[in-house]
Amino acid sequence: MSPEGPLVITLTGISKCYGTVTALTELDLVIPQGSIFGIIGKSGAGKSTLLRIMSLLESPDSGQVYYGRERVDTLRGAALRERQRNMGMIFQNFNLMASRNVSGNIAYPLEIAGLHKRQIHERVEELLELVDITDKRRARLRELSGGQKQRVAIARALAVNPQVLFCDEATSALDPLTTRSILSLIRELQRKLSITVVLITHQMEVIRSICEEVAVLDGGRVAERGTVRDLFANPRSTAARELLHDDRYRDDSGDRTTERSGGDE
Ligand SMILES: Nc1ncnc2c1ncn2[C@@H]1O[C@H](COP(=O)(O)OP(=O)(O)O)[C@@H](O)[C@H]1O
Ligand SMILES: [Mg+2]
Repeated sequence: MSPEGPLVITLTGISKCYGTVTALTELDLVIPQGSIFGIIGKSGAGKSTLLRIMSLLESPDSGQVYYGRERVDTLRGAALRERQRNMGMIFQNFNLMASRNVSGNIAYPLEIAGLHKRQIHERVEELLELVDITDKRRARLRELSGGQKQRVAIARALAVNPQVLFCDEATSALDPLTTRSILSLIRELQRKLSITVVLITHQMEVIRSICEEVAVLDGGRVAERGTVRDLFANPRSTAARELLHDDRYRDDSGDRTTERSGGDE
């Protein structure tokens, strides 16, 4: 657990290539602490690459990553592992272990951290409660719905009290109703635990429902960034307009019209 609380994440001049493919180009981004920050972009925009660099799973070819004032992209060994213990991650495909039941999956990071059996049991119970799946504690994964699996993944990600939760398309495999329940859980947890949430998605609807600020990624660069309100009222980049346009086709719920006319005034 970090004694310092969540920190501002600063990326400066980040570039990353895979062979001849350029994933990120000279990218600058500051992610405020203790809020839900959205990163949106089309498929291939560089979102997952950016997330892997931010979470120190990969090193950039050039540029720097800072947590607070500490440069972290150059960390190795024990210092790197210590930093990474402060991050939780959830994905579209849940990445859970089929060989373990619900409690076993949530217990895994606690076992790695070397907690005693008794402490693990207590913490798992707390986490089951936190994500509201206590009745599934002994269930096998195949008995769970997508939403329940994502709750297990969230509990596992938060097990060791990270200061940052990274979400990569965490609701993209879920139906709209389940998406809403997972997003409201993420919002509730962000407030309750005062963590930083970095939420990556290609869906504007996700950004609109829970993010405060957002960066639009396009071709490995930040096309624009600002408050979610401004983005919806007055998208400046072509990438943002295209994403908004796509999203309008996907969801014709009535309240969007209100949002749009509100923004036009
Ligand atoms: N490990 C990798 N090897 C080769 N190319 C990659 C790898 N990871 C990402 N890319 C390429 O980098 C670009 C950005 O990918 P990615 O970050 O996954 O985008 P997004 O998550 O926005 O869909 C794409 O062109 C993708 O094909
Ligand atoms: Mg991706």
